[in-house]
Amino acid sequence: MKPLIPHDTLHHHANPRARRGEPIGPRPRAVLTQEAMREAREEIRAWPGYRPTPLLALEGLAAAAGVGQVFYKDEAHRFSLNSFKALGGAYAVLRLLKSRLPAGVTTEALLAGEHREAVGEITVCCATDGNHGRSVAWGAQQFGARCVIYLHATVSRGREEAIARFGAEVRRVGGNYDDSVRQAARDAEANGWFVVSDTSYPGYMTVPRDVMQGYTVMVDEAIQQLDAPPTHCFIQGGVGGLAAATLAQLWEAYGADRPRVVVVEPEQAACLYASARAGAPTAVEGELETLMAGLACGEVSLLAWEVLDEGIDDFMTVSDAAAVDAMRLLADGVDGDAPLVAGESAVAGLAGLLIASQEPALRSALGLDAQSRVLLIGSEGATDEAVYRELVGRSSAEVMAEVATHA
Ligand SMILES: Cc1ncc(COP(=O)(O)O)c(C=O)c1O
Repeated sequence: MKPLIPHDTLHHHANPRARRGEPIGPRPRAVLTQEAMREAREEIRAWPGYRPTPLLALEGLAAAAGVGQVFYKDEAHRFSLNSFKALGGAYAVLRLLKSRLPAGVTTEALLAGEHREAVGEITVCCATDGNHGRSVAWGAQQFGARCVIYLHATVSRGREEAIARFGAEVRRVGGNYDDSVRQAARDAEANGWFVVSDTSYPGYMTVPRDVMQGYTVMVDEAIQQLDAPPTHCFIQGGVGGLAAATLAQLWEAYGADRPRVVVVEPEQAACLYASARAGAPTAVEGELETLMAGLACGEVSLLAWEVLDEGIDDFMTVSDAAAVDAMRLLADGVDGDAPLVAGESAVAGLAGLLIASQEPALRSALGLDAQSRVLLIGSEGATDEAVYRELVGRSSAEVMAEVATHA
């Protein structure tokens, strides 16, 4: 079989602590409860403009990878934000505002501006590499709060402008993502603002838990859309929140028969991989220079780690070149598959699947075969058009136009 993605380095760690073939245990359940997941579903499904995103069967890609089926959850269509992150930050903003307002204030009342004065006194803030900040700014704007967003040096102008369009004040900070997290925390403390972060740290757990609960809405949709349980899920990792929400929801739904879950990270920012190897949360230092901006995280979310540690079966890393190849494969459509628009942080899982499927030893270690049914989360569309065009060689609109002629 001709490799779909050439690669030179390969890092894979099989997690010896993973509990496979067992129902979900008390440790992950202490983080993400069924009740809270249900609450998030009821809330978010009632938001104006809510629609489940499509789950696409990519038959050409599955055949090329030598697996039975590949299902791609396409988050390019999530609200107007083009990423799954719309579910997390905005939901956490809403929960925070409700906790500061008199009991009984409803989402409808907030959306209608009925508590404008009280909400306008509240400032939410966060650090972001793009998508989370967009979600927080969008949530703050919808529900009427003030918002300040911190961006580190390498976040693109396009992403900055997209955040500013939702009315947030944007502040640039030197250093990497983790430095911007610390700056947001310091300013919030000094000004009486509320940090709405997607990552947890000692003493800061409530909001990131709400963020992950918001993400589970997407996984629940995928479970409803699938007609049989997947055997594998390849999921990209930044601080680990997405992977934790995905794993927890799959584990709750399928119990001991849950799929094998593989976390895939950029090789320059593989804090989950490093933590799994060390057996404890472990930071990765340095510039974290990767094209996959949403995954450029050097420190794991402690809360996410509580879910991942005994649940994720395998940890892998992929190069930036592999991610770009995966974006182009989706944009072209493999062997008759419809073209798809996926941003650079959306495809690490796909790149991991393709590399694993073409490496005999890894293929067999992961149990990939012609019967495998693989779930991928395409976590963003073209969230930065200029970056997308540069990497893929044409605009997302051009790729979408090909979708129209494909049928
Ligand atoms: C598109 C996209 N995918 C995946 C992730 C990773 O999510 P997490 O940081 O929760 O692991 C991010 C994070 O920003 C993202 O923007």
